[in-house]
Amino acid sequence: MYIRTEKPEDLEGVRQVNIAAFGRENEANLVDRLRGIASTFSLVALPSDRIVGHICFSPVVVEGKCSSNLSILGLAPVAVLPEYQRQGIGTLLIQHGLEECRRSGFQAVVVLGHPDFYSRFGFIPASRKSLKSEYDVPDEAFMVLELESGTLQDCSGTVKYRSEFSLCE
Ligand SMILES: CC(C)(COP(=O)(O)OP(=O)(O)OC[C@H]1O[C@@H](n2cnc3c(N)ncnc32)[C@H](O)[C@@H]1OP(=O)(O)O)[C@@H](O)C(=O)NCCC(=O)NCCS
Repeated sequence: MYIRTEKPEDLEGVRQVNIAAFGRENEANLVDRLRGIASTFSLVALPSDRIVGHICFSPVVVEGKCSSNLSILGLAPVAVLPEYQRQGIGTLLIQHGLEECRRSGFQAVVVLGHPDFYSRFGFIPASRKSLKSEYDVPDEAFMVLELESGTLQDCSGTVKYRSEFSLCE
C-alpha cells in the first residue's frame, strides 16, 4: 500500500472515495471546499493506480484560554472505499497523517469519531484536556491527541472547525 500527498490529478478519485464511503456527497464537497486553505493537507492510499483511501487535516481554533502559538489540526474526514475497508488502510492513513502533523510542527490533533477506533492511535477524550466540541456530541466521541506531551496543559475552551464544516450537514 502506497500513501502519499494528494496531487491535483487525484481530485476525482478522492471525491469518489468519500462519496462511496459515506454514501452521500457532503464529505466530498467538504474536502473540495477545504482544499487550498493554509495548513490543510490530504493524503491518499493507492494499492496500484486507483485511489482507495483518503484522509484530510485542517486547522482548528480554541475559543477560550489557549496560547496563540499553539497549532492544532482537526482530522476529518477519513474514508476508505467500502470494498477495501477492514484491511488496515484507514489505520495506515491515520498513522501517516499523524506523522506528517508531527513533522510539520503541529502540537495536537482533534477528531470526532468512534472512541474504540481512535484510542488505538493515542487519542483520549478531549474533555480530559478541558476542551469541548462545538457540536452536541457524546463526551467520549470528541477526542484529542497531544503530539508534544503536556502541550495543552494551559489550554481550555471550545474547539472550532473551519467554517467550511458548517455546510457539511
Ligand atoms: C472509518 C474507516 C476510514 C476505517 O477504515 P478501514 O480501512 O476500514 O480501517 P482499518 O482496516 O485500518 O481498521 C478497521 C477497524 O476500525 C474499526 N472501525 C472502522 N470503522 C468503524 C466505526 N465506524 N465504528 C467503530 N469501529 C470502526 C473496525 O472495528 C476495525 O477494527 P477490527 O478490524 O479490529 O474489527 C472506514 O471504515 C470508512 O471509510 N468508513 C466510512 C466513513 C467514516 O465513517 N469515516 C470516519 C468518520 S470521518
